[in-house]
Amino acid sequence: MATRDLVILPDPRLRQTSDTVTAFDGKLRALVDDMFETMYAAPGIGLAAIQIGVPLRVVTMDLAKKDDPPAPQVFINPQVVWSSEEKGAYEEGCLSIPDYYEEVERPAAVKVKYLDIDGKEREIEADGLLATCLQHEIDHTNGVLFIDYLSKLKRDMVVRKFKKAAKQAGAAPHVPNPTHEL
Ligand code: NI
Repeated sequence: MATRDLVILPDPRLRQTSDTVTAFDGKLRALVDDMFETMYAAPGIGLAAIQIGVPLRVVTMDLAKKDDPPAPQVFINPQVVWSSEEKGAYEEGCLSIPDYYEEVERPAAVKVKYLDIDGKEREIEADGLLATCLQHEIDHTNGVLFIDYLSKLKRDMVVRKFKKAAKQAGAAPHVPNPTHEL
């Protein structure tokens, strides 16, 4: 297991559409292990493989509260197959857009089809934080970021800020907010 470097805005890889996973082998397990290690180290509650530069439809997540035991979840090739008309709003953040948080409105509940680590078909119905997190991470597998749901003005401001930061060598390391980074 190893911690991998996070892909940060404005890296163009974040706009890439990830490929469907077809091989459920040791290589996939090693990727998932690295994703969990990277996600926990950040710390974050969700991660898509493209955020460590691997364009595969793999998502890791752990929504356990601070004092509860870890609850790691893996979603391979996840797909939203139903979403509620009712909307819910959460303040979202992203490990690829550090230290930036905005409220995003999305369907309050979703049904997601996915494969587990052994390639077995699964389905989950989610609401609350899990629904938000699933939609946020599935978006990553399609090259979509949560800032895409903000006004153009806000989005342009963030992108400009990160472009500037990327140009500045020796920028101070960021300290993520453990409750919000997805
Ligand atoms: Ni994210």
